[in-house]
Amino acid sequence: MAKRTSHYVCQSCGASYPKWAGRCESCGEWSTLVEEALPEGPPGGLEAGGTRLGGKRLGRGVEFVPLKGQDSQAPRRASGIAEFDRVLGGGLVRGSAVLIGGDPGIGKSTLLLQAAAALARSGAAGCAYVSGEEAIEQVRLRAERLGLAEAPVELAAATSVRDLKAALDRPEAPAVVVVDSIQTMYVDTLDSAPGTVGQVRASAQELIRVAKRRGFALLLVGHVTKEGAIAGPKVLEHMVDTVLTFEGERGHQFRILRAVKNRFGPTDEIGVFEMTDGGLMQVTNPSELFLAERQGEVSGACVLAGIEGTRPLLVEIQALVSPSPLGTPRRAVVGWDGNRLAMVLAVLEARSGISFAGKDVYLNVAGGLRVAEPAADLSVAAALLSALSDRPAPSETVVFGEIGLSGEVRAVGQTDVRLKEAAKLGFTRALCPPARGRKTRPPEGIAVSEISTLGDLVELFLDAAPHARLREA
Ligand code: TYD
Ligand code: MG
Repeated sequence: MAKRTSHYVCQSCGASYPKWAGRCESCGEWSTLVEEALPEGPPGGLEAGGTRLGGKRLGRGVEFVPLKGQDSQAPRRASGIAEFDRVLGGGLVRGSAVLIGGDPGIGKSTLLLQAAAALARSGAAGCAYVSGEEAIEQVRLRAERLGLAEAPVELAAATSVRDLKAALDRPEAPAVVVVDSIQTMYVDTLDSAPGTVGQVRASAQELIRVAKRRGFALLLVGHVTKEGAIAGPKVLEHMVDTVLTFEGERGHQFRILRAVKNRFGPTDEIGVFEMTDGGLMQVTNPSELFLAERQGEVSGACVLAGIEGTRPLLVEIQALVSPSPLGTPRRAVVGWDGNRLAMVLAVLEARSGISFAGKDVYLNVAGGLRVAEPAADLSVAAALLSALSDRPAPSETVVFGEIGLSGEVRAVGQTDVRLKEAAKLGFTRALCPPARGRKTRPPEGIAVSEISTLGDLVELFLDAAPHARLREA
């Protein structure tokens, strides 16, 4: 009888079975059994053999080293693509594993081919690109289109992890290995198809082990499911050192690379790219890009001075309020959190008596960006009030601040950075929460109007002469 190489493990309780079943007999959960490879070598307790002493298998012992080590090689390798390196925290760390997730067609393969080429050109000792999705010819065609045909990247089309290991598990392994994508890789000890939970996990585990042993940086592409999670087990995200997501709206040119987990750098950092005919271009001044199509004085629009990671980013928040024919009016949000919109609407109603009942409310962050920080609350409120009153928000003004449930406007971090960016882009006023503690002078050319409650903001819009009022402040 052929030796068994895999077993089925319940992902809920850990019970193991030789055959698949719909329900785990041990814990009673349904559809939790996943095929996994049996550990290599004689598994303890299952078969006889192995290095045993008195019935116990002996470990080989662990070699301890001082924390303060000496390493001749640079710990990080920068690609020279600044937007990419910053998101990684300054470059790729030796022996680290990076997972890059994103919707199909968003540009993951393009980004990684460009990064691989840049790394190879920057003198990294060997840079390999393994494609499991495209044939060599297709990758070459793409490289040509990107003007990278001459880059010294080693190319392979492979899907077998065993073959890949044979090629990479040697002392002169490349310095950087891109695997596009982890869902196409398979280990032959499992019967299940590539892309299944067991295969994805086993393949990633094997590749990461080789990366750690040989000290190369491993970049894995991961597909994203309809729900937006990286396809495959959540454990994949735990196994790697860094998880990046590459996002953007299909219809828009902007692509945002975002660090959601990083063992070697800050998270929340973003890199902004623009998809062009010649591949992805870095956007070094994203605020200008996101405000490029801003109309002059229109109602329902307001500029948020936001922060993404360590960088200020100015974006336009747009609101539309219209009479609703429906019993339950619509609340539709693009680029922001729907719950947060509900909260801002509720606070406006409860604390300032501004009612949106019987009205549809639409909110949009222009340019396809997704804003997550609470500092956007005040600009959302301003956009809503402007839309409701059909009055343009004060011109050349940026708005930011968090709204509390009692209607107070709370201070947010990095006020200086926000104001500086606004001043740089020609804004002359800012509506923001009162500065806490030590007062610093706002940058040259920008007047700050402190808004301490939502009521202040409401007055500004519903007063007869809002602009005059603002000028007094
Ligand atoms: P791709 O990198 O293949 O996406 P993913 O690997 O995430 O599935 O990108 C495919 C899209 O990018 C495709 O719709 C065409 C577009 N594209 C450009 O606009 N310009 C280019 O130079 C390249 C290479 C792709
Ligand atoms: Mg691809």
